[in-house]
Amino acid sequence: MSLGETLPKNIVLVGFMGCGKSTIGRQLAKLLGYPLVDTDHLVEEKAGIPIARIFAERGEDWFRQLESAVLQELAAPGAPRRIISTGGGVVVRKANRSLLQRLGYVVWLQAPVATILERTGRNRDRPLLHTDDPKSRIESLLAEREPLYREASDLEVETAGLDAEELACGILESARYHFTGGH
Ligand code: S3P
Repeated sequence: MSLGETLPKNIVLVGFMGCGKSTIGRQLAKLLGYPLVDTDHLVEEKAGIPIARIFAERGEDWFRQLESAVLQELAAPGAPRRIISTGGGVVVRKANRSLLQRLGYVVWLQAPVATILERTGRNRDRPLLHTDDPKSRIESLLAEREPLYREASDLEVETAGLDAEELACGILESARYHFTGGH
């Protein structure tokens, strides 16, 4: 398979906030020519309001329900192949972890806490980190979620200090290997 050839399924990016899912997703979409979709954007479209307002006005549970509904829609039979970038908490629900696996090749993007803190500190659109001590919040959420990312993913990728285009090429190589039965 050459770089331009298609893969039989989607590539799905999971990982904590600030680990580069959107940036690497854009690179993968460019390399493969697949559309990039972002579950956070699809949730906002469904709700008709931004994520910060979903959390503030309707709570995290409602957000999680919308997120699961979006994943189910992406897994509909006959759906086109895509690069799917997900919200950092998508792995929390068990049903979502199974859906992610059905959707395609799941890549867990990782970064050190200091990098996450620096990247997420640049904007205020992540309600779960609106606390007096975002570092502790990141550490405790990571501790809860790491086993869940591991369970849901086919590949783990450390992103800190690496170029998004190179990372995307590496992910594509691994995806091809996976789909050609090399795993
Ligand atoms: C969340 C991550 C966010 C967004 C929401 C909840 C989480 O997405 O889905 O604020 O639970 O980690 P990003 O990972 O794209 O920031």
